[in-house]
Amino acid sequence: MMLHIRNARILTLGIGSRPRRGPELGELGIIPQGEVLVDGGRIVAVGPKVDVPAGAEVIEAQGRVLMPGFVDCHTHACWAGDRLGEWEQKLRGVPHHKIVEGGGGIQSTVRAVREVTKKQLAANLKTRLEAMLRSGTTAVEIKSGYGLETEAELKMLRAIVRAGTEWQGSIVPTALLGHAFEGDLDEYARMVVKEMLPAVSKEFPDIAVDAWCEKGAWSLDACVRFFSKAHKHHPIRVHADQFTSMGMVPEAVKLFARSVDHLEASTKSDLELLAKSPTFGVILPCTAFQTNGRYAKAGFFVDAGGALALATNCNPGTSPTHSMPFAIALAVRFCGITPAEAIAAATVNAATLLGFSDRGTIAPGQRADLILLCHKDERLLAYELGGNPVDLVVAGGSVIR
Ligand code: NIG
Repeated sequence: MMLHIRNARILTLGIGSRPRRGPELGELGIIPQGEVLVDGGRIVAVGPKVDVPAGAEVIEAQGRVLMPGFVDCHTHACWAGDRLGEWEQKLRGVPHHKIVEGGGGIQSTVRAVREVTKKQLAANLKTRLEAMLRSGTTAVEIKSGYGLETEAELKMLRAIVRAGTEWQGSIVPTALLGHAFEGDLDEYARMVVKEMLPAVSKEFPDIAVDAWCEKGAWSLDACVRFFSKAHKHHPIRVHADQFTSMGMVPEAVKLFARSVDHLEASTKSDLELLAKSPTFGVILPCTAFQTNGRYAKAGFFVDAGGALALATNCNPGTSPTHSMPFAIALAVRFCGITPAEAIAAATVNAATLLGFSDRGTIAPGQRADLILLCHKDERLLAYELGGNPVDLVVAGGSVIR
């Protein structure tokens, strides 16, 4: 089916699929009034005027913004149960360590995930993926990390893959093998390296692996030991400096990590080091909003030449949202970046981080993952709060209204 979208303000972001750094991040490659032709799920032409064969379905954009679908490059969207009880406790002022001592936090999601079947996990995720698509997300990374046992982690990864096969967007699973631990950390981390990592490698040979370096989660030492083994076979991604600067950023750079995510507590020298490296920095402002109001200094990172990506961190504990427009709105208010920079960080840069060279821009040959906003000015994406600015989604060439 051919699709002709006309009379749109097109944000092409189309200067090739490479990470945008520094001033390039704010260049959206705008065609003020243009057209896009889609055929066979791919973009075949884009410009002020394109040749349109007879019979194409026409979408009249009426001057509104057409842009690449959002790429949400960091989520924990596969879970079971809920954390509403602990959230109420938090609102009443109960400290986090008391909630954890009472069995709350990540461990409560771990129990819930272990109790359900792969089918149930996939069904939960599918519901969230549908909501993401309606808000304009056409590609999403989803981590395991609530299993903490080899079989339970594999169950999560299989559920993620299964939900992805039934969705019109694209999913990228990540094996978060160092999210939390049970018993003694050293022993647990040894088990992960000896047993869990080989089992994951066997079934998911190309998957990226991840760990959370934080007080109360994985220590710097445990992370470095794990990543030193894992990076020989897998791309690595790292949760670092969410609450505490632990020295993980320089180690991640040395290990050529794909990304370091969070960065709320990073020192300026670590941000500068990261900015000069090929490793992406990923900011997750919805988590700062939900937890402690401490946001990553993304503007500083971009000025230092860093490759920035932006994601929701959708999870039941610290980021109960799947909305990329909300992440953009927060990043612009609190992380020191412009609306244009946030848009590029949420599309082309996030796609490049996930290894997609055919997503995140509007150019011939790209997969037709497009969103038509309700607005004629893309800054309204960042300005408005709490609504859904997405009027129409095209995923792989299929129109979802
Ligand atoms: O980003 N940092 C690690 N993990 C999540 C928390 C997940 C949860 O609480 O379930 C985060 O905050």
